[in-house]
Amino acid sequence: MQGTDHGRRADHGRGGDHGRIPMQSVRNVVAQTDMLAIVREMVEIKKAGSSFKGCCPFHAEKTPSFHVNPGLKLYHCYGCGAGGDVIRFVQETRGLNFVEAIEMLAERVGITLEREAERPEDSARRAEAKSARGRMLELDRAAQAWFRGRLQLPEGRKAYGYAQTRGLTAQTIERFGLGAAGTGWTDLLDHLVRRGFNRDDIIAIGLAKVGDKGGTYDRFRDRLMFPIYTAAGDLVGFGGRDLTGDKEVAKYINSSEITLDGEEENSRFKHFYKKGDCVFGLWQAREAIRRTRTAIVVEGNLDVITLAQAGFDNAVCAMGTALTDAQAKEIKRFADRVALVFDGDAAGRKAAMKAVPVVVGAGLEGSYVVLPQGEDPDSFVRKFGEEAFRDLLQKAPPLIDGYIDALVAESDHSLQANSVILQKAGPLLSAIQDGISRDMARNYLQAQLTKGAIEPHRATFDRYLQRLAPPTPKAEPQQQMRPDATFGEPEVGKLEQDLCAVLVWYPALCGQAAQYGALDLLEHAGIRLALRDLCAVAREQEVDIDTLSGWAQALPDGRARRLILRLLVEAPLCKPDQAQGWLVQVTWRLQERQLKREREQVTEQMKSREVTPEKLAELSTHLSDIMRRLQEFAKAGARQAVAAASGI
Ligand code: GTP
Ligand code: MN
Repeated sequence: MQGTDHGRRADHGRGGDHGRIPMQSVRNVVAQTDMLAIVREMVEIKKAGSSFKGCCPFHAEKTPSFHVNPGLKLYHCYGCGAGGDVIRFVQETRGLNFVEAIEMLAERVGITLEREAERPEDSARRAEAKSARGRMLELDRAAQAWFRGRLQLPEGRKAYGYAQTRGLTAQTIERFGLGAAGTGWTDLLDHLVRRGFNRDDIIAIGLAKVGDKGGTYDRFRDRLMFPIYTAAGDLVGFGGRDLTGDKEVAKYINSSEITLDGEEENSRFKHFYKKGDCVFGLWQAREAIRRTRTAIVVEGNLDVITLAQAGFDNAVCAMGTALTDAQAKEIKRFADRVALVFDGDAAGRKAAMKAVPVVVGAGLEGSYVVLPQGEDPDSFVRKFGEEAFRDLLQKAPPLIDGYIDALVAESDHSLQANSVILQKAGPLLSAIQDGISRDMARNYLQAQLTKGAIEPHRATFDRYLQRLAPPTPKAEPQQQMRPDATFGEPEVGKLEQDLCAVLVWYPALCGQAAQYGALDLLEHAGIRLALRDLCAVAREQEVDIDTLSGWAQALPDGRARRLILRLLVEAPLCKPDQAQGWLVQVTWRLQERQLKREREQVTEQMKSREVTPEKLAELSTHLSDIMRRLQEFAKAGARQAVAAASGI
């Protein structure tokens, strides 16, 4: 059979600690998995009828066309055609192979995977077969376990003490998974090598480095360790804060940015860890952000952590870099608004100048929070308390107003300075989608710039401001993660779709459909082959949903695969007791369609000049036969027509 569950699984039956995972274990894991919870780590979805929908994680879109059926554990995107089961979802959103995805899901539901006995020749191949990303994730996880463990041991006493002096409770330390790197030179390296990890991987990922004299040693030493997660909870790196107080060493060092071999250049998994893609704290903050629709964006990891401890558990930071477009987009997945928090000094203003356009560009609204000179959120909350910080948040001006203030504060109010401000603020204003917010921002800018300005200038500004165009909605880039070429594939007709729907939902009817000859009447080759294949499967075994979804995902024809996955995600076409009636109806209509096509062909041929009298007689007999049968179709009920036409 052409592409079944087993096919896909056998191909990917690799990786892991022992042999192949038995099918039954895979089923158990899937059965126990809460697909909505898994999807919600990546996408915000809302109930829509019998399924859930949200914006597709596989292509850029603003109107939701990504559907999830939690009962069947299938997803489908009407926009880009991505679709599959929960395993496929994990594979594609996290860059894991099949076995790695199962392992991840198994761990989450607390199932220990059984393995079939492994042939010796397979074990070497298996080690090779791990995806580079899977290997790196495993390595960071092992390092994380080590760092966390150290925190409770004598080697970690200094780090633990430091965390305490920064006011962190045991609960907070646990929530953010803080750890300790001791003073030893090769402790972690030795541990990881003993555990069987590859030395080159350890160096590449930035946990160890090669010194000038050629020796390899731990990169993080004598530091308080902060694990860095993606928004989906994948551990991709570490930040380490210095505990020596030595001015010669960097206060913070982070994992190395690495790209992975074996990933396509434009794959989003090409970069295993990239500073500019990660939002520190987002994994821990995502629920609070979703609840409040607001993210508090600060500058330092410790600010995030202290704020969370003080009850502001929607705080995140950009890891000491200027906020990037990619980070703003990550935040936008969970938030509508941000509170950008900056130092009151020149450096803070400079950071704000960079961050505001990025945030506005991502379509986020927000407020502009200025801290007193010399304070960061951590020191502010510890000095003045939560209430004072809450107050600061509440009184903060809108983002654009704060931005304009900052621009004006740096300017000398000359005509020249004002025109620079206009040039900077103008495009930003145009980027504001909401008309009222845009007008208010424009008024504010006008008020600030014309304050004390002489009349002619004011008129010039007014003219300029009036010219600022309203935003043009950006065309959604139709980038797809997994482009499924649809060019040249014929559309699937309604009857084809209905036949698919009946058989996919009620595969037990396959035999009957074959007997009626319904499959031969299908025009779309991809669908015809798919359903023939389904009939073959159904002849051999009872088709359960697992088999069905695996089969559907492996279909080679893009249109057929997308259609069938969509049908599975949608509600059934009809109730079980109506299925037989539906099949008959659809078959009847297919036959009717076929006859009408034949009628057209015959009439065309009769019109031809080259037709001989004998041929004409033959054609007209054929035509009257067709007409008679068509009349029968029109007259008879569905059941009788099928019986008549298929000679039953
Ligand atoms: P504390 O000084 O412990 O309160 O940390 P902080 O988070 O307040 O640090 P700071 O405001 O100085 O810096 C903000 C963020 O920039 C930090 O959380 C780090 O992510 C990053 N950062 C700071 N210093 C360095 C450094 O020396 N190297 C690197 N790579 N990043 C740094
Ligand atoms: Mn600080």
